[in-house]
Amino acid sequence: MAEEQPPATVKGMNDILPPEVSKWHFVEEKARSVLEAFAYRELRTPILEYTPLFVRGVGEETEVVEKQMYTFEDRDGSSVSMRPEGTAPAVRAFVGRSQWNREPVTRWYYLGPMFRHERAQRGRLRQFHQIGAEVFGIASPSIDAEMIAMLVGMLREMGLPPDSLEVAINSLGEPEERVAYREALRAFFSGHVAALDEDSRRRLEKNPMRILDSKNPEVQEICKSAPLLADTLGETSRQRFVEVRAELDALGIKSEVDPRLVRGLDYYTATIFEIKAKIGQLGSQNTLCGGGRYDRLVQSLGGPAVPALGFGMGIERVLLAIADPDESYEPTLSLFVAPMDARARRWALPVAQRLRLGGIRVELEHREVGLKAQLKRADKLKARLALIVGENELQSGRFALKDLASGQQHEVSEADLELRIHQLLD
Ligand code: HAM
Repeated sequence: MAEEQPPATVKGMNDILPPEVSKWHFVEEKARSVLEAFAYRELRTPILEYTPLFVRGVGEETEVVEKQMYTFEDRDGSSVSMRPEGTAPAVRAFVGRSQWNREPVTRWYYLGPMFRHERAQRGRLRQFHQIGAEVFGIASPSIDAEMIAMLVGMLREMGLPPDSLEVAINSLGEPEERVAYREALRAFFSGHVAALDEDSRRRLEKNPMRILDSKNPEVQEICKSAPLLADTLGETSRQRFVEVRAELDALGIKSEVDPRLVRGLDYYTATIFEIKAKIGQLGSQNTLCGGGRYDRLVQSLGGPAVPALGFGMGIERVLLAIADPDESYEPTLSLFVAPMDARARRWALPVAQRLRLGGIRVELEHREVGLKAQLKRADKLKARLALIVGENELQSGRFALKDLASGQQHEVSEADLELRIHQLLD
């Protein structure tokens, strides 16, 4: 019989196992605690959405919608897609429950998997995970700056040195202002049609701004000399952007204006931003997070005119940027219980149960192995303490509690056990 191949994961989709998962917990907990401090509350939306949500929300001509969505027909014939991002679902939920009637300002955050059929490489996956947040109901430029500063603070909390971060910002202005820019781009790219690829030619008519985020190096080269949006923005948009920068300065956040930053999703208006990291094992996929304003999206998905903004941060990329090894995030094992035989184990099982439910992290050896092997395993698990339980101990009612770092041994009674463990762990 032919040997069976072990089953593989789908390309670009990974298991997350210990000890790596401990580093995930660290990043997720930091994110939650910072977001909670900024008064965001968690939103959980389904993985599957009806496809038109993304077509209308993210934009028909974006790379994400055009090429990267996992779209299929549900059993009832409707077209569904695995969410490639979290903003359109958040806006759907916002509009669906008329959230503006419940509170004037809504701050939501989310954490979870997103799906894009991209060319998988380091820092670029097909199932990746985002920490994201959306704020609805505030038009003031100060919230744009608050969000960017929060992200810098969050990344610092996660252990990234602030001088390794680069904050790029730009303003996309309002859709009306982009009409003139689109014309300017169309005129410009029409002069370079021969060098454009098929996708870019198709976008030339409908959405020439999307040519600017083409991944094709030849097209990218042409884009370098394309006209800049900033030159067609009106006074109100310019002034608003000046204010965002002033607020960032007041917060002590260093940022660079990147006039070529456009971002790949269609919903943006006014301020957009990206934060890159210049460290770790990131390579070219070094954009940790991106976001911006989308003041027209709520309305275009059926709600009233509610200004909004948000960000998405790639957890896998943040993990690559953090230098400390996975192991250093593992929780320590407080106690290893080493019973010498079945009788000892029968005594140890309820004792371990009590300690565990009292919040002490305990491993109990259930296999028939000798003391030496058990202590070796306790060592391997980096347990702080070991409790040795044998015939003598059961008879005398005195148990040996061993500090595995110092080698010191303490004799304790069952009644004192919990207290002594706490004292030794402190
Ligand atoms: P995005 O720029 O498409 O924005 O994604 C945000 C972040 O998700 C990226 O900066 C990156 O760290 C991570 N990311 C994206 N694609 C991948 C991938 N294939 N593999 C690994 N990481 C990836 C959004 O998704 C918007 N919804 C952000 C937003 C929220 N704008 C307003 N509100």
